[in-house]
Amino acid sequence: MKMSVIGTGYLGATHAACMAELGHEVVGVDVDENKINQLADGVVPFHEPGLPEILRRNLDTGRLSFSTDYADAAGAHVHFIGVGTPQERGSYAADLKYVHAAVDTLVPLLEGEHLIVGKSTVPVGTAEELQERVDALAGPGTTVEIVWNPEFLRESHGVEDTIHPDRIVVGLRAGSAAEPILREVYAAQLAEDIPFLVMDLATAELVKVAANAFLATKISFINAVAEVCEASGGDVTRLADAIGHDDRIGRKFLGAGLGFGGGCLPKDIRAFMARAGELGADQALSFLREVDSINMRQRDRMVHFAKEDLGGSVMGRRVTVLGAAFKANSDDVRDSPALNIAGQLSLAGAAVSVYDPQAMGNARRVFPTLDYADSLDEALAGAELVILATEWPQFREMDPVGCGQLVAVKRIIDGRNVLDVDAWQAAGWSIRALGRSL
Ligand code: UGA
Repeated sequence: MKMSVIGTGYLGATHAACMAELGHEVVGVDVDENKINQLADGVVPFHEPGLPEILRRNLDTGRLSFSTDYADAAGAHVHFIGVGTPQERGSYAADLKYVHAAVDTLVPLLEGEHLIVGKSTVPVGTAEELQERVDALAGPGTTVEIVWNPEFLRESHGVEDTIHPDRIVVGLRAGSAAEPILREVYAAQLAEDIPFLVMDLATAELVKVAANAFLATKISFINAVAEVCEASGGDVTRLADAIGHDDRIGRKFLGAGLGFGGGCLPKDIRAFMARAGELGADQALSFLREVDSINMRQRDRMVHFAKEDLGGSVMGRRVTVLGAAFKANSDDVRDSPALNIAGQLSLAGAAVSVYDPQAMGNARRVFPTLDYADSLDEALAGAELVILATEWPQFREMDPVGCGQLVAVKRIIDGRNVLDVDAWQAAGWSIRALGRSL
């Protein structure tokens, strides 16, 4: 099937390449010429394991192409919208300007019957509003239907999550005839018996934000319990293992530590609250305010621990922050807890050295004043305190004996609860971890 994907960021580029991998003919369209040139040359402009191989393979077959010209999308009849919906400046609401720009540019170019399949995370009610917008823009004899098909891919697992998702959710307006088209788009997944859930537009939009709000709540729940563990001498990792055995609870997303960041969870819970407020249901989601503040508090607690460990002030002290990405296997630094604490410590006067296996370029652009080390060893050299802030395998697997020979003082805070405490203590380190009394 011929299709276009508008917006080629983490979501759109991954979706475009994976749809081509599944046998469709796909054109990816974006206004960012630089990004499009890179993708057309087989270069993924961000770190996403497995994506470069799929991109190059499908460029070679000719099934996948990229363009900055929306006219190149008009030959397809199915158009995915995968542009960003960031937090609006000065408010909690989602900013829909890129979604609006995408449909406003695309629709006047279309002739005949078309389906616009929204994948971006949007406030409930957006699809209905977009339908009115496209109806006004479509030329005579042209019909354009909006459907919503939220995306649940995780960065760093984008390929796997797109080709083998847990479920496919499709929101349709009453009387829509679009279901068979979407079944054809996802024929490969349907052949694998992946659940295909058809519902109304509002529910489909809500499914996405509800899923992210639930995940955020789970993380903040365990981080709140972590604070009680610290106060009472408990150990949050053992507690999480124990409650996680209950399959109604499950161990996933009970990793206590620095909390969630990235381009999705933080802004999605805020946009969900803002939209509920507009709908007069703000009280229903007021607990998400607490989820947000527990999450942000972990960053402050980490800075507080660093000061405490260094005798009350970090002024002039050498602190190494391991990690800049918001999570492992990603180069994304949007709302990254790691970069946030590195910045706070630097502003408090510490000499901060940061190292991340993939996110150095992005981190430098956001926070140019920090000192970026070229390697893990260089970052550790002379440190008086090491903070593990992103759960990269390279940091989990560090050798405490070897690291001990590089630092000035063997003192580490495990902000992600991923180190083998016994091994680090045996190597003479003083180790501290969020939610544990060590
Ligand atoms: C999240 C959702 O997991 C995806 O399902 C969704 O499609 C995506 O947002 C989106 O809306 O586009 P992602 O932002 O890639 O995906 O990141 P996650 O893997 O969910 O991790 C989010 C943050 O939570 C990271 O900072 C991670 O370090 C943190 N986290 C995760 C914890 O602090 N503890 C945990 O136990 C798990």
